[in-house]
Amino acid sequence: MFKNDTLTGKTILVTGGGSGLGLAMAKGFSSLGAKVAICGRNEDRLKSAAETIGASGNPVYTASVDVRDYEAVSAMMDRIESDFGALNGLVNNAAGNFLFPSEDLSPNAFKTVVDIVLHGTFNCTQQFGKRLIDSGNSGTILNIVTTYTQTGSAFVMPSACAKAGVLAMTNSLAAEWAEYNIRVNSIAPGPFPTEGAWTRLMPDPKIEEAYLKKIPAGRYGEHDELANLAVFLMSDLSPYITGECVTIDGGESLMAGQFNSLMQIAPRKQLKGFFQMMKPKK
Ligand code: HXC
Repeated sequence: MFKNDTLTGKTILVTGGGSGLGLAMAKGFSSLGAKVAICGRNEDRLKSAAETIGASGNPVYTASVDVRDYEAVSAMMDRIESDFGALNGLVNNAAGNFLFPSEDLSPNAFKTVVDIVLHGTFNCTQQFGKRLIDSGNSGTILNIVTTYTQTGSAFVMPSACAKAGVLAMTNSLAAEWAEYNIRVNSIAPGPFPTEGAWTRLMPDPKIEEAYLKKIPAGRYGEHDELANLAVFLMSDLSPYITGECVTIDGGESLMAGQFNSLMQIAPRKQLKGFFQMMKPKK
């Protein structure tokens, strides 16, 4: 889909790049010529991810950090710049989430998710943006949000609040930083199975089966599909796109359409039979 040098000249930091979708995007960037730095809390996971990413032959850097800690993020950005090179791309992918009834959440549970998702994104984004603005270099930011930023969602209320904030941050900065040649976009992924998300968000195989039925495409997303979209938005193939949120969910978020649920109630053949019976006879 892309030329091998699509991201040559880019140095991109992926937060939470040691596993799941962060790792998939990091691999995609690296395979197309980018120098990729990944950060996260688990050093062993980062090291093993770096080996996979580095199979492309391009340089990889790992940085152990908790994105909730502003000073630690600042120190990490300094380290990356001196040891690896100046960054011109940032993907805010690190997240925290779990299913829980809102009435039973502890204040610390709410705070933890908001700290990781919203404050973590602010910490990395501001530190990255400051450096670009000071140096006069252009850059690209990509924030991973969710499809429920607009609607909210039961049982993941802290994540919905925090991701909605990240979307607002995306659009605010897209306007504010355009004059510095910094593009800021977001991707709203639907269901892409990862160990991190699935162990926290899919409690039971029966629930998973029912969940799959509400995806019009009839399947989950493939990691490469998300990585390809991220490559496009991080690359010079999309220089005029900023402040855009691209949904990639097999149509899942369109299921609010009033009659879409008919597709879940009966097989298509049976529905067609009903529609024929309802058609006025000549
Ligand atoms: C209720 C919980 C909980 C759970 C933790 N808490 N897990 N409450 N249900 N399952 C509460 C704790 O009791 C504690 O409150 C507070 O949250 C902090 O928990 P810690 O374990 O101390 O926090 P920490 O070690 O920092 O871990 C953060 C975490 C964890 C968010 C809780 O799950 C994590 O590290 N997640 C990272 C990976 C992740 O979540 N991936 C999924 C992202 S998917 P008290 O009051 O007891 O101190 C995603 C996309 C969604 O976001 C879209 C998918 C379709």
